[in-house]
Amino acid sequence: MKKVAVAIDGPAAAGKSTVAKIVAERKGYTYIDTGAMYRAFTWYCLKKGVDCQDEKACCALIPEVQIELKPNHIVICNGEDVSSAIRQTNVSGNVSYIASYKDIRLALVVLQRKMAEHDSVIMDGRDIGTYVLPNADVKIFQIASVQTRAIRRYEENISKGIACTYEEIEEDVKKRDYIDSHRSFAPLKPAEDSIEIDTSNMSIEEVVTAIIEIIDKKLAEKN
Ligand code: DC
Repeated sequence: MKKVAVAIDGPAAAGKSTVAKIVAERKGYTYIDTGAMYRAFTWYCLKKGVDCQDEKACCALIPEVQIELKPNHIVICNGEDVSSAIRQTNVSGNVSYIASYKDIRLALVVLQRKMAEHDSVIMDGRDIGTYVLPNADVKIFQIASVQTRAIRRYEENISKGIACTYEEIEEDVKKRDYIDSHRSFAPLKPAEDSIEIDTSNMSIEEVVTAIIEIIDKKLAEKN
């Protein structure tokens, strides 16, 4: 079977990872969560006591940071399982700074492209269709209103036992939207050949079905 690459980009908390995981399972693709890699780097900066707004100091850590994405959504940073730690609010509040540093992006993009070399993948992030995998077979740009996204992220945090308030989450979503879409290198924006899906009023199953239909149609057109 031909190797397939599906890119899902969009703003924070638009439900990309939830649907990408399900689509990956149903289609037999490998799911790659690129946001988790920026989060792991952020976790490491915080662990080292480095100010995440200090670009030089954060980039100086590049040679010593090793990030691995394992099956079952396990994220390892320098040998430590950080899968839960990278979802905490201190990481969420700082990750957009880390993701705006060009040298860190370049280092992580090398890893991301390598992971897509041999397997069929569904990769989610902000710049997958525009920069990481510009030749992806299918490009989805998944959006939802700020309020919908903040409610979803708030409920997800509460269910995981992560302490937060709705207001805090809404502020964080807005702040990340701004930083992610205004950075100079590989900002959040739809690829010209992407298909937009607004999930504000859609269930998870509806989004999954829509994406699988798009993938099947695109692949049929190519064959
Ligand atoms: O999808 P997420 O919330 O886990 O992403 C965490 C942060 O990483 C988010 O603020 C944007 C950034 N990011 C990015 O800049 N490029 C990617 N490919 C993935 C995530």
